[in-house]
Amino acid sequence: MDNRLLSRIERSFKLPLSSTKKIIKSFHSEMSKGLSGGKSSLAMLPAFIGMPAGDEAGRFIVLDLGGTNFRVQEVVLEGGGKAQVTAENRFGLKKKDITGTGKELFDFIAGKIKDFMQIYKISPNEKRCLGFTFSFPMDQTDITNGSLIRWTKEFSATGVVGRDVVSLLESALKRKGVNNIRVAALLNDTVGTLLAKGYTDRECDLGVILGTGTNASYPEDTVKIRKWRGAKKPARRMLINMEWGNFNKLPRTVYDERLDRATSNSGMQTMEKMVSGFYLGEITRLISLDLIKKKALFSGDMPAAFARPGRFGAREVFNMERDNSKRLNEIGKILTGLGISRSTHSDRGSIKRICRVVKVRSAHIGTAAMAAVILWMDPKIERRHTIAIDGSLFEKSPGYRKYIKLFLRNLLGIKADRIKLALANGGSGKGAAIAAAIINS
Ligand code: GLC
Repeated sequence: MDNRLLSRIERSFKLPLSSTKKIIKSFHSEMSKGLSGGKSSLAMLPAFIGMPAGDEAGRFIVLDLGGTNFRVQEVVLEGGGKAQVTAENRFGLKKKDITGTGKELFDFIAGKIKDFMQIYKISPNEKRCLGFTFSFPMDQTDITNGSLIRWTKEFSATGVVGRDVVSLLESALKRKGVNNIRVAALLNDTVGTLLAKGYTDRECDLGVILGTGTNASYPEDTVKIRKWRGAKKPARRMLINMEWGNFNKLPRTVYDERLDRATSNSGMQTMEKMVSGFYLGEITRLISLDLIKKKALFSGDMPAAFARPGRFGAREVFNMERDNSKRLNEIGKILTGLGISRSTHSDRGSIKRICRVVKVRSAHIGTAAMAAVILWMDPKIERRHTIAIDGSLFEKSPGYRKYIKLFLRNLLGIKADRIKLALANGGSGKGAAIAAAIINS
C-alpha cells in the first residue's frame, strides 16, 4: 500500500484551526447577506414562530416528512415542559415514493394519516389540529403555509416546487375523505427540534439536524431580519431556518466535486454533501475507488460494490471506522458482505483510515457551523447555550459527539464548557405539536 497517497488524501480532508476560523467568518458574512435579502448561500428563512413559553398544552396530530422515514404521531403536551408521544406509525420511503409525482407522494401520505386515524380510533367527527414538519427549504409568509423552494436529499417529486405544501396536503386529505384535520403549523425539522428542547430548557437557542441531511435554526432579533416584508410587525424574536446545508464557502476535495456532479442538485447543498449521512458512504466509496484505480487498494481488483454508488452508506462507514480489533475483523466482515472476500490487513487498515477522515471532517464542519451561530448570537460567549441536536450521525455514530466537543474546545477554549450538546431524539415531532399549540393559544 502506498502510504503517501493515503496520507495526502487525509491531509486534504483536514481543517486546520486557521481555516475553521475563516469558515466562521464567511458563515457570518453569508448569514448577514441572507438576512438582508442579498445573494447568499444561506437562505435564512423566517419561520414565523418564536420560542415556546413551556406551558403550551393540548393534543395534536403530527406529520413528519423529510428523511428516509416519515412518521405520523399523536403528541400530548401537558404544559410544564411535559410532552408525550401517545401513538406513532413510522414508514420507510422508497425511491419511487420520492421521485414520482407530488400528487402520488401526498396521496400516499394522506392515506397513511387516514390509516393512523382508524388504527388509533380517532373519530372522523373529532376536529384535530396537525403540526406538519416538512424538512425542506420553503418560503413562508405565515406559519400555516410554505411553498417549496427546491427539493434536497435526492427527493424530486414533480409538481411541488413553488407550491404551498399545506394546500397539497389538505387537498390529498380531502381526496381520502379525511375532513376533520386542520394544518395549524408548518415548520422545518430544525425548528421542531429547537422548539422541543426549548420547551424544557430555557438556555436552548440552537436546533441542529445531523442526519440524512444537515441544517439548523436559531432565534433571531426581528430587527436584524432586514429582508422582512411581512404586513404585521412580528414579535421581538423569530426563529430562522438557516438551510445551512447549502453553505458553499468550504474547501472541497476532488471527491466532493465528483460526488456533486453525480447528484440531482449539482452545485447546491455543498455543505450537506460533505457532512450528512446521505452522502458519507458515497464519499468513502469515491476515495476507495480512486485508490483501487491507482492499485493502492485490493491489489487493484475492482469489487462490484465499489464500481457503482449505493452499496454502502453512513452506517457502514461508522461500523468500519469503529473496528478497533487487532485484525480488523468487523471491517473484514462488512467487506465480505460487499462481495470482497479476500482483503488484506493493509486493505482493511486503509478502509478504516478513509472512513475516519470522512467522519471526522463531517463532525469538524458541523462544529464550525454550530460555533459560528453561537458566536453570531453571543460573540464573547457570555451566556450558557444548549444546542439541541437530532439525527443519526449524532445519535448513532460512536465518537461523533466526542469530536464535536473536542473541536469546540480547540476553537473556543474554556468557554466551550458553556455550550451543552443535548440529544433531541425525535424532537421535530414534539416540536410540531408545540408549534401548533403556540399558534392555537
Ligand atoms: C436538508 C433540508 C433542510 C432540513 C435538513 C435536515 O438540508 O433542505 O430543510 O432541515 O435537510 O433534515
